[in-house]
Amino acid sequence: MSILTASNVEYTYRTRYQTVRALQGVSCEFEPGQAYAIVGRSGSGKTTLLSLLAGLDLPDSGEIAFEGEKTTDMDRDRYRREKVSVVYQAFHLFPLLTALENVMYPMELSGVSHKEAKAKARELLRRVELPEKIEKQYPKMMSGGEQQRVAIARALASNAQVLLADEPTGNLDSENSRNIIDILLDLAHKEGRCVILITHDNEIASQADHILRLKDGAVVEAA
Ligand SMILES: Nc1ncnc2c1ncn2[C@@H]1O[C@H](COP(=O)(O)OP(=O)(O)OP(=O)(O)O)[C@@H](O)[C@H]1O
Ligand SMILES: [Mg+2]
Repeated sequence: MSILTASNVEYTYRTRYQTVRALQGVSCEFEPGQAYAIVGRSGSGKTTLLSLLAGLDLPDSGEIAFEGEKTTDMDRDRYRREKVSVVYQAFHLFPLLTALENVMYPMELSGVSHKEAKAKARELLRRVELPEKIEKQYPKMMSGGEQQRVAIARALASNAQVLLADEPTGNLDSENSRNIIDILLDLAHKEGRCVILITHDNEIASQADHILRLKDGAVVEAA
């Protein structure tokens, strides 16, 4: 039974200078307990698809549905708060919060006590193999790979059923990258969540249960 579906999704960016048909009739479905890799060349529409799946934006036509409910009809703020968690390509850490506070934020938002959120955030930062000193650092004082791991720890802090990650290992060395992928695969296989990650790395893609390949805004392979 799929938890998240895209049916015939079209999306076009219109600027003053050009229109780009970023998604042209994309259909796909995602099940809980499975890990999916979305692959395809730069500009093929991967991030666009992810932002529609995350409910950050709506398709021009076609539909995205979570447990049968269309993103156009639902309370999207609530969906984004409770059902999906996202690791963005450009991290989107809160610049005025420390690493620890960034990870605590979604937990406090969902009503977890300060003390509990702090303990869990510490544990998650360890889990992505960041040293204790990172806790008090602000994003601008961290390397790209460190920021990436804080962003992943923050996404792990949520109990969302769907985890979406845009190039989650793009800034990591191979060892850290393996660790992150293992964590994400475990979320699917041991916790029954639906994990969808965008990657350029074929080796990572081959570890996922399914591969969805986009080309020029269309699905050209789904396995
Ligand atoms: N804000 C925007 N305004 C106009 N065009 C955009 C915008 N964002 C993306 N596009 C265009 O839409 C198409 C799909 O972009 P998208 O970001 O989804 O690609 P991608 O597969 O994630 O690429 P990458 O691997 O480089 O991250 C590209 O042609 C891109 O230039
Ligand atoms: Mg992208």
